[in-house]
Amino acid sequence: MVPSGSGSGPDVKSWLDFWDRSHRIYVNDRHLEVHCRRVADDILSLSPTAGDAVLDYGCGDALEAARVAARVRRLYLYDAAPEVRARLTRRFADNERIEVLDDAGLADPVLAGAIDLMVVNSVLQYVPPEGFATLLATARRLLKPEGRLVLADVIPPGDTLVADTTGLLRFAWREGFLVAAMLGLVATFFSDYRRLRQKLGLRTYAEDAMLRHLADAGFNAERRRPNFGFNQVRMTFVARPKG
Ligand SMILES: C[S@@+](CC[C@H](N)C(=O)[O-])C[C@H]1O[C@@H](n2cnc3c(N)ncnc32)[C@H](O)[C@@H]1O
Repeated sequence: MVPSGSGSGPDVKSWLDFWDRSHRIYVNDRHLEVHCRRVADDILSLSPTAGDAVLDYGCGDALEAARVAARVRRLYLYDAAPEVRARLTRRFADNERIEVLDDAGLADPVLAGAIDLMVVNSVLQYVPPEGFATLLATARRLLKPEGRLVLADVIPPGDTLVADTTGLLRFAWREGFLVAAMLGLVATFFSDYRRLRQKLGLRTYAEDAMLRHLADAGFNAERRRPNFGFNQVRMTFVARPKG
């Protein structure tokens, strides 16, 4: 997913603040809808089975979560931003297969060793190093011994602006919001997102460094191609708890 501007105010101090407020990351409703459709397709491409418990960690608005939930036993949605969780709770109140977790829910001992598949898509760039270590420990605690952790849309070091931009424009052309995407890219240059990106940076991981992090945290891991989404410069990793 490529950011395309924001309207979240001048007092945003962290990425979590940013995500917890109104923003214009998606250029219009169509962009958010087709983005969420693609994320749901990508999660389903991992072939979860009907008996699986799946956790979408850092799930964002997850507009198509019901489609994923219909194919599994239970879908847990977790996002660190309280406002995002509040929207999810309202949206999926009537869906018996979906449970929105807050931090306490994530820490509940009943979930230990209960998750078959944990997906973290387009989140790690916003998570500081100590937060990443915590995330991996959480995954190790929650996953079944044969479970999978999928880290997707991980940004490699270096300048990915060209890949990000062309990826967004191609996606927008295919999905019918090209003009809005171009306007969104212009808006990015005047946005809080750009200022925050300059101030806080985005965390990036080289492939070998990510594999080392995962090994150190107790996982056997490999890179998975294709990446989620439309930007194949970014990376997906599939990790399984070491026996
Ligand atoms: C780019 S959006 C991705 C949302 C969703 N995974 C998707 O692909 O559409 C990043 C999301 O990560 C969440 N987030 C940021 N830091 C987080 C953290 N430390 N733990 C969990 N979620 C986090 C934000 O609130 C936001 O909803």
